[in-house]
Amino acid sequence: MSEKSLRIGVIGAGRIGIVHSGSIADTPNATVAYVCDAIADSAEKLATKYGAKHTTNVDDLFTSGDVDAIIVGSPTSTHVDLISRAIDAGIHVLCEKPVDLDIKRANSIKDKVANSKTNVSIAFNHRYDPSFAQAHARFKAGEIGKLEQLILTSRDPAPPPGAYIAVSGGIFRDQAIHDFDIARFFVSEILEVSTFASNVFSDEIKAEGDYDSALTILRGSKGELVSVINSRHSAYGYDQRVEAFGDKGMLQVSNMTPTTVTAYTSGATETRDGYLAFFLERYAASYRKELALFIESIQTGKQLNPTYDDGCKALEIADAATESAKTGKVVTLK
Ligand SMILES: NC(=O)c1ccc[n+]([C@@H]2O[C@H](COP(=O)([O-])OP(=O)(O)OC[C@H]3O[C@@H](n4cnc5c(N)ncnc54)[C@H](O)[C@@H]3O)[C@@H](O)[C@H]2O)c1
Repeated sequence: MSEKSLRIGVIGAGRIGIVHSGSIADTPNATVAYVCDAIADSAEKLATKYGAKHTTNVDDLFTSGDVDAIIVGSPTSTHVDLISRAIDAGIHVLCEKPVDLDIKRANSIKDKVANSKTNVSIAFNHRYDPSFAQAHARFKAGEIGKLEQLILTSRDPAPPPGAYIAVSGGIFRDQAIHDFDIARFFVSEILEVSTFASNVFSDEIKAEGDYDSALTILRGSKGELVSVINSRHSAYGYDQRVEAFGDKGMLQVSNMTPTTVTAYTSGATETRDGYLAFFLERYAASYRKELALFIESIQTGKQLNPTYDDGCKALEIADAATESAKTGKVVTLK
């Protein structure tokens, strides 16, 4: 650990907290300083792996003087409060998506975030997937001309447990919100949202009042149409694709396999390994890039990651999709 190492406190030692801790440990100018989790064993286990302190009391991260920045990977309901407390404590914060499940509560700290002296970033990591990032950069450079259609496909290999669904805020705020952020990455202003959603395979998800399948169409201010396809399961694995279609061509991002070896046999042709299993594997590079940009933002004072406002805007689209799915009406964004 160098003297200039950024001391990061990780809040939430679950799926995503473990990913971020691994990225911190792989980064030369950062260190896992503290791990906080509501479950003492979880905090201790993750902290021990990286030689960090651990606690069940989040106050310790804000008052100990041992932490320069926090990564918030605890459940969504904790995010707004932790961002607010980090700002008060003069601590930088990279917070997981979504910013909250309630847009009013999210908006209530907008001014505070805007006036913050410390960095506040929202972890929409898909922007930093090397393939998504390159497709976006080439679109911005004019390679496909004027964007007319954007097709985003996002299907999880299998649904999360019912307990997670129950607090997730639903398929639009939890899963599709990544796609709504990517839609905003390509299309600067989204005006309309129209969604159909169904329960096609999971009684557990239905029992939670959520959908397991959804198709959303977004309309941009320049007439761009965005199609967002979501499912909570996929028999062939994690399905993450982007197709950007413009008047001069198309950019496509396909699914990733561990190798590109293609087999041709008597029984089948053009067969490959299965797709990378899930978000931990598929987006591994993006989590590291997101962290690197967070650290660079702190060092340079430039905002390089998605902002809190980006988090609120994606949540507004998710809310509109939820409303459209329930009412069958097109929702106009304010
Ligand atoms: N960007 C991504 O790719 C991505 C992927 C997964 C999850 N997430 C987001 O990360 C957040 C956590 O999701 P997860 O899948 O890691 O959940 P998880 O259930 O695996 O982990 C959450 C952890 O937080 C702990 N916890 C609960 N309440 C707490 C509190 N008040 N203070 C501290 N710790 C607390 C739990 O004990 C658990 O260990 C959610 O907001 C989710 O939307 C983002």
